[in-house]
Amino acid sequence: MDPYRLPGNVIPSRYELRLEPDLESRSFAGDATIYLNVIESVAEIVLNAAELTIASATLEGGKEGLLPATIALEEPTERCRLTLPKVVDPGDYRLRLCFNGTLNDKLRGFYHSTYRDAAGAPRHLAATQFEATDARRAFPCWDEPAFKAVFSTTLAVDPALKAISNSRVHSESIEAGKRVVRFADTMPLSTYLVAFVVGDLEATEPILVGKTPLSIWCVPGKNHLTAFAQAISAFSLGFFERYYGMPYPGDKLDLLAIPDFAAGAMENLGAITFRETALLVDASTATHAEQERVADVVSHEIAHMWFGDLVTMGWWNGLWLNEAFATFMEMAAVDAWRSHWDRWTTFGASRSAAFAVDGLHATRPIEFPVAAPRDADAMFDVLTYEKGASVLRMLEQYIGPEVFQKGVRLYLERHAYKNTETTDLWVALGEAAGLQVKQILDGWIYRPGHPIVTAERRGDHIILSQERFTYLRASSDSEIKHQRWMIPIQLRLHGKDQTTSRRVLLSDSSTQVGFPADCRCLLVNEGGHGFYRVHYAPELLAALLDEGLDKLAPIERFNLISDSWASVQAGLMPLDDYLTMTERFRGERDKNVWTILLSSLQTLNRLLEVEERPGFQRLVRDRLAPAFAELGWTLRQGDSELTNQLRGELLRGLGILGNEPGIQNHARALYSQPGVPRDANLDAAIVPIVAFGGDAAMYEIFFGAFQKASTPQIEQRYLQALTFFRQPELIERTLAGTLNGTFRTQDAPLLLRLLLLNVVSRNRAWQFIQEHWEEINRLLPFVGVRRLLEGLVGLVTPELERQAQSFVAAKKIDLGGKTLAQYFEQLRVLVALREREQTVFRAFLAGT
Ligand code: BES
Ligand code: ZN
Repeated sequence: MDPYRLPGNVIPSRYELRLEPDLESRSFAGDATIYLNVIESVAEIVLNAAELTIASATLEGGKEGLLPATIALEEPTERCRLTLPKVVDPGDYRLRLCFNGTLNDKLRGFYHSTYRDAAGAPRHLAATQFEATDARRAFPCWDEPAFKAVFSTTLAVDPALKAISNSRVHSESIEAGKRVVRFADTMPLSTYLVAFVVGDLEATEPILVGKTPLSIWCVPGKNHLTAFAQAISAFSLGFFERYYGMPYPGDKLDLLAIPDFAAGAMENLGAITFRETALLVDASTATHAEQERVADVVSHEIAHMWFGDLVTMGWWNGLWLNEAFATFMEMAAVDAWRSHWDRWTTFGASRSAAFAVDGLHATRPIEFPVAAPRDADAMFDVLTYEKGASVLRMLEQYIGPEVFQKGVRLYLERHAYKNTETTDLWVALGEAAGLQVKQILDGWIYRPGHPIVTAERRGDHIILSQERFTYLRASSDSEIKHQRWMIPIQLRLHGKDQTTSRRVLLSDSSTQVGFPADCRCLLVNEGGHGFYRVHYAPELLAALLDEGLDKLAPIERFNLISDSWASVQAGLMPLDDYLTMTERFRGERDKNVWTILLSSLQTLNRLLEVEERPGFQRLVRDRLAPAFAELGWTLRQGDSELTNQLRGELLRGLGILGNEPGIQNHARALYSQPGVPRDANLDAAIVPIVAFGGDAAMYEIFFGAFQKASTPQIEQRYLQALTFFRQPELIERTLAGTLNGTFRTQDAPLLLRLLLLNVVSRNRAWQFIQEHWEEINRLLPFVGVRRLLEGLVGLVTPELERQAQSFVAAKKIDLGGKTLAQYFEQLRVLVALREREQTVFRAFLAGT
């Protein structure tokens, strides 16, 4: 019996909760009446509780009258065992519990958050973050997603404060000097979706979307930053009602910006919580990427109101049913809102992030066993989100968007208010499509990794073959060698005057397709939706580059680079061939294609020796300069938002990665021109470039700009720029600030991660993290510690790699699941690349 799982012999159907938070003493008192169905005779009841003091527990409603229980808390498994004075028969009961807890500062469970008001005085609020397993820190409960129940919540608060929960206010009164707010009954909900927020918050006037009143909430003084969120939330709410063919399942929808927040946002039914950067934005001073981020997060969470909240996975192994779907739907909504944002092409970057982990031996299947809470936390990764969404996109394109939508509707209708398994989705999609979806998808969901498809020409045929792609060669793992997928492959053949597309479902190890005599070149993965790598035999690659490059869509060029760069890391393509190939992209003007080019250069920069850097910087300038010269320093009439963002990214690449003095000087000059408004995309590049060459006086200015920033995005821009200063004492100051209260604990992990990924600061940052490991764990939220350690992949020297490994072993660090093994394997891939290519690489750089 799994010690973390609750027995299924007692089932809750309704919680009547009353919570009284006290922001001053950072504590809360609560009582709960939980309606239970006892299924078989029991003498004890086991539920979840953690960091709570439970004063009393009484079972009512049986023929015995009141039965007071003995309470035993089991800390390691976060359970509470209630021993009854006698065995009770099956039937309906009520369990009454009185308890107390603290409003903690770890941003999970019921926690407190701090901000400053207009006069600079500190103010407090209380908020919740329950997913995955932290509702048990706010009230004793059956804290597993399959135990759905109705929640009837009452919050007793200081009359000066607002109280928000999942549903509308049912009634309100003043009792004993408190404002007592009773909320309407919710639909049956999993505990991780319950939310309470208490504070001096302000809401926008509700707008009606269908029958749903929709409001954006924030701390006082920030209401002018809500318009963008209002627009995208109203749009996506309507979009999803139409797409799902089903009304919004709640009775109101509040979107709340919380000053301290561990994740990006959380899909509590009717009371979605966000970190401020993910909700509040001023479109006139935000970059394209920053606006896209808000649109993404808002759409993602609203998509969850159906996928996740109305229909919920039965257990955390099926988390992808929530997150992959919400990510897929997020793209669909944002794409429908602003089609010129080309969201599905930008999604290429997410797909390649998933490839980067899924190409490891330490990857896992999308659906993966979960026992302990820590393993549930580890499921929130690129495999669940980005690989999951990529696989859904591949399927949608294969069976057709209308058929896919029909299947989704069927699934939601059939399982509303209930819990599901992955197979339920297959059945619904399969019914809609009239084919065995399961057969196709099993390999993608239940097995690890993904294939590389090799294309070779044999006379008038093309041979397509598949094999699992891994960056590192397996010693003799025959299981890997024989792994096969059913791969929907879309091909395009470019002839002399005509172009033809072909679809093949590759399920064996190889297949062949005809290659007409007049055919000039072949593209595998037309449209770029397939979740597989492509490797062309040399003559096919040459033909594609010579004849076909300008015939490819941006996402196809993106994939060509992404696959080639992956081949370099896997030792299938020499590094110098790749670098030569990048010459052909000097004429590239698509932002997304540049994203992948720049990210490969960024990675390369991390594995250089100091003396190799000047040659590399020359190469970077050579590749980027023509495009930037054409775009110039000022906005041009008629340029798209994507082009404006590209301008910023090229500038940043030239100024920092390319270390180009002309660019740096000009950036500094522009920065010090007072009162001249700059385009946000340009500003977001100029700020880090100035920091990169900045001194202590400039650090002071940037720190001040961070403190008095007028929007969350500008605040982040300056905050992150602090990690670019290069003087040791300034790096020291930023490091110290992560733990001494200068920066919020929600931001500290990101700063530490950036410092680890930065070649100038990584040595010192890693030393600092080792010295302060206990403090880091005591002070920072756990979600953050996991993200911080992602920075390990920046430690690309054999020496740092060894240090990192021995530290993690000595401290017995466990991030759950396979997280750490993945970080170390990613590091190994890069260190191995460096060892393999160093000589050739040096020669190549000497020649540029
Ligand atoms: N359900 C998650 C929030 C979450 C993440 C809870 C990690 C517990 C652990 C939410 O729907 C989500 O996915 N949020 C993302 C943003 C989203 C746009 C990808 C996040 O917080 O990063
Ligand atoms: Zn999500």
